[in-house]
Amino acid sequence: MAKEKNLFYCTECGNEQTTWFGVCPACHAGGTCAEAPSSKKKVHASKNLLVNDPVAINKVTAKDEERITTGFSELDRVLGGGIVPGGLVLVGGDPGIGKSTLLLQVCQNMANSGLNVLYISGEESLKQIRLRANRMGDFSDSLKLLSETNLETIEATVLDQKPDAVVVDSIQTMYREDIGTAPGSVGQVRESTNSLMQLAKGENIPIFIVGHVTKEGTVAGPRMLEHMVDTVLYFEGDKQAVYRIIRGVKNRFGSTNEIGVFEMRNNGLNQVLNPSEYMLEGRAKDASGTVVACLMEGTRPMLVEIQALLSRTNFGQPRRTAVGTDYNRVNLLMAVIEKRIGLQMADYDAYVNIAGGMKVTEPALDLALVMAFISSFKNRVISPDTIVFGEVGLAGEVRAISQAEQRVAEAKKLGFKKVIMPAVSLKNIRENDIELIGINDIKEASEQI
Ligand code: TYD
Ligand code: MG
Repeated sequence: MAKEKNLFYCTECGNEQTTWFGVCPACHAGGTCAEAPSSKKKVHASKNLLVNDPVAINKVTAKDEERITTGFSELDRVLGGGIVPGGLVLVGGDPGIGKSTLLLQVCQNMANSGLNVLYISGEESLKQIRLRANRMGDFSDSLKLLSETNLETIEATVLDQKPDAVVVDSIQTMYREDIGTAPGSVGQVRESTNSLMQLAKGENIPIFIVGHVTKEGTVAGPRMLEHMVDTVLYFEGDKQAVYRIIRGVKNRFGSTNEIGVFEMRNNGLNQVLNPSEYMLEGRAKDASGTVVACLMEGTRPMLVEIQALLSRTNFGQPRRTAVGTDYNRVNLLMAVIEKRIGLQMADYDAYVNIAGGMKVTEPALDLALVMAFISSFKNRVISPDTIVFGEVGLAGEVRAISQAEQRVAEAKKLGFKKVIMPAVSLKNIRENDIELIGINDIKEASEQI
């Protein structure tokens, strides 16, 4: 029988080698070599898989799994309609953004609807969790808390209790004794996730894992785990602002790019069911350089305020910054305006801001950016009951964008009177009671200001 080869990996960067090494060939860290414990298991697993014969696709029966609601429609939509039994969901985000708060509230909702839920924390004591829970209202006793970091104990508890759902907060605090490196290291985080995956699939229990995005970026952070789990959600938002966005970036059970919007209050997170209204609160209505754009976040249209400011450069090189959108796209659009309409912006400082701290990269934003720049340049106000969307090409042409009808409907719903949009998208719209202005190029857009 062929001798089984052991696999070695670097505990710093996760690089795998077939031989032992003193200095990692990938990241050049010294003394970070460790033996991968699961190499033997992996071989057996793949052998087992081969025992099965291939099956014709029509012979495989699978119906849409029943979903468990989280109690938040905003979160259910991002999950693709609710929690799938046996699904492993990673919730990533900066420390302090509200991951533990959200998951404790999800546990509260599920337990109050009669499900048995187990919340495991490796970060907080039971007392600390209770203090947080005190702000959130009533809890049912079918929510059980466990303060534990040893995965073997956790596995045993889950097998014993057989809960309907489990939360593990956070993956960076969990460890397996047979790994031999510190909790939070690449090896521990990876193998702990592996164990939880097997537990979720084996027992058909949905498991949520919390993962902090580490300061160094990707090392031992949630990014490294994305390929291992079924669903990846990121919790984002400005810590100064009260609203939080949960974004699906991977989902084996539904579409991605959906977002859910929440607001952090003193009783925990509250869902924001009408984010457009929320994002436009307190908007400056009689200032030049601002305009409202309509963007699609997954299946849902959302209105956001785009702000641009041009001011004469005082010395040398003009400054340009873009907050909430792609800096290169802003530069490109400014070049298109200069070339196609002839507005000389070269000696102006330019600042772009997406109000409310949203991050937007959709091409439909282009026309709004262009109009905000022209408005600031001419120092003329765009009527505040106008919304704008459309992609802009290098020739200054305004191109069609998807789902124009839904965007117009959202604008109408929120009381806007006028839509400036690509002329080519007009034919899809059957809305009345709202003025639609079709634009072919940015010159025509400029004439509207
Ligand atoms: P937390 O859920 O602990 O963040 P994470 O688990 O992602 O590290 O969020 C903590 C922050 O949320 C903290 O700054 C306090 C704030 N918070 C509220 O504003 N209201 C509340 O009701 C709760 C529970 C927390
Ligand atoms: Mg936490």
